[in-house]
Amino acid sequence: MTHSPDRPLSHAQAAFYAPMPFDVLDSCHQEILAMLEDLHTLIEHVSAQGVDASARTLARSIHLFFTTTGLPHHLDEEQHVFPILLKSGDPDMARTIEHLRHDHVEIESLWLSLVPHLDMMARGYNHPHLGELRSLAHRFTSLCRQHIEEEERLIYPRAKANQSSQDLHVMRREMAERRDGLLNPGEEKAP
Ligand SMILES: [Fe+2]
Ligand SMILES: [Fe+2]
Repeated sequence: MTHSPDRPLSHAQAAFYAPMPFDVLDSCHQEILAMLEDLHTLIEHVSAQGVDASARTLARSIHLFFTTTGLPHHLDEEQHVFPILLKSGDPDMARTIEHLRHDHVEIESLWLSLVPHLDMMARGYNHPHLGELRSLAHRFTSLCRQHIEEEERLIYPRAKANQSSQDLHVMRREMAERRDGLLNPGEEKAP
C-alpha cells in the first residue's frame, strides 16, 4: 500500500500504519470533523449550483467515509475504550459513558436519515428537499462535534492512562481485524 505524504491517512489505512490504536481513534476524530465541513460545503454548493459532477463526487465520498470509517469508530469505542473506564466502578464515569452511548445511537439515527439525501445526490438527482437536508445536517454536525469534544476532554486521556498492555494488545488486534473485514468483506479468513 502506498501513501501520498500530502494527504492524511484514512481511518482504515491508519490501522495498518499507526503503532497505537489511540492514534487511529484520534485521527478518526479529525477526519470526522473534516467530513462535517465537507457536508456543509456540499449543501452550500448544491444550494448555489445544483447537483453537478463535483457535488456528486463529494456526496459519494461523505457517504463512503461515514459508512466505512466514521460509524465503525463508535464500535471501537464501545468495545475497547469505554470498558477500560468502567473497570474503575466510578459512578460519574458510568453516567458519562451512558450518555456517550446514547449519543452514538442518536448520531447513527441521524445518519440513517441523511443517507437517502446523500445517496440521491451521489446518483445525480437534483435535490428537492434542501431545507430538510440542511436541518438534518445541522443536528448531525452539532451532535458529532459536541460528542467528540466530550470524549477528548473526559474519556480519552483517562483511557490512555489506564490502559493495560493486555487491553492494548486486544484493541490493536481486533481493530485491525475489523478494518480488514471492511476492506475485504468477501474474503474468507484462513482457519
Ligand atoms: Fe464516540
Ligand atoms: Fe469518538
